[in-house]
Amino acid sequence: MTGPLPTHRRAWRRTDDYTPGTAKVKLVTEPLPLPLAPTQVLIKVHAVALNYRDANIANGGNPWPVTPNGVLGNDAAGEIIAVGDKVKGLQIGDRVAPIIDTEFVTGREPGRSWLAADEDGVLADHLVFEDKLIAKLPDHLDWINSSILPCAGTTAWSALKGLSIGQSVLIQGTGGVAMFALKLAQASGLKIFLSSSSDAKIKKIQEQFPSAPIYGVNYRESPNWHDDVLKLTNGVGVDLVLENGGAGSLVQSVRCTRRGGVVSQVGYLGKQDPSNLKELIPSIIDRRVNVRGINAGSRLDLEDLSAAVSATKLDFNDIIDKVYDFEQAEEALQFLWEGRQVGKLVMKI
Ligand SMILES: NC(=O)c1ccc[n+]([C@@H]2O[C@H](COP(=O)([O-])OP(=O)(O)OC[C@H]3O[C@@H](n4cnc5c(N)ncnc54)[C@H](OP(=O)(O)O)[C@@H]3O)[C@@H](O)[C@H]2O)c1
Repeated sequence: MTGPLPTHRRAWRRTDDYTPGTAKVKLVTEPLPLPLAPTQVLIKVHAVALNYRDANIANGGNPWPVTPNGVLGNDAAGEIIAVGDKVKGLQIGDRVAPIIDTEFVTGREPGRSWLAADEDGVLADHLVFEDKLIAKLPDHLDWINSSILPCAGTTAWSALKGLSIGQSVLIQGTGGVAMFALKLAQASGLKIFLSSSSDAKIKKIQEQFPSAPIYGVNYRESPNWHDDVLKLTNGVGVDLVLENGGAGSLVQSVRCTRRGGVVSQVGYLGKQDPSNLKELIPSIIDRRVNVRGINAGSRLDLEDLSAAVSATKLDFNDIIDKVYDFEQAEEALQFLWEGRQVGKLVMKI
């Protein structure tokens, strides 16, 4: 960057007022923590993607504790405009994203510290991060596309890990993680089953992604939707379920996974009532299913995803539902909270 560095930034901080109808975020101007420490970088943010968790946190529903009045958002893409004098492997001008769990760099760390919950998030025009928490982004993607990689992208990547061409996956819902997973699944030659609350959404997606069949299941109209999946797989079940519902759907997900298959537990979008889990243990045992927790991914996972996206030249324009201006955070959060999106909402800065 030429010229003086910024001294302040604009950031959206939570109000922590969970009363319906009140503002959930407030735009603040605050000093940047400068000068940079030797291993820190300063990033000018160009786009921030929103995730269900942002709306959930802003409305007081996060299943993990959050710091008071924190900055929202965990999915940012931007450009490095200054580096500390001991930064390695990164330079001014690099297109980068911070990882979303700052204690998940290599995958070996025992802790957890998620942006926007345990520490400030990224819905701001400038960010300061340690170099080890930064991954480079694919060169061919614009900022809007790039911003969905760290959270939705890395989560989908981790959830599908281990599947190979010709195997089958049930993807639940048509939200951000689900649609990213659908793109990766098509690029990887997987047989795709998609469950949704809406036939119209399933039809739209089938028309939008015609290169291979997508088998739809409506989990709202068909309470025994796992039987529908079993029927569509000749009674065998899918190799992997990308589980988005949580307690309300996990048992059914296990029941429509093939014996010895995998359920990747990603989300908790349904009603989290433990009484729905009564049959969980016998179902897991019966089907010899591996239920694995997905915690987005490490920096290495994000780098692997970026490499895959670069190699395939995938872009994500077709799963970006809406782009908002930075000033429209409140409006974007409400849209997300009402679950009106198909795919991703992104704020450009
Ligand atoms: N573990 C992790 O690392 C990680 C990372 C990112 C996100 N997450 C979690 O993963 C979930 C999805 O996140 P997202 O950002 O993709 O959310 P999102 O974009 O808000 O997705 C919402 C969509 O999911 C579908 N859905 C709603 N309730 C459902 C249910 N009970 N069962 C199945 N699908 C349901 C709906 O699609 P239809 O109307 O088509 O059904 C809805 O439009 C959230 O719980 C989020 O907190 C976890």
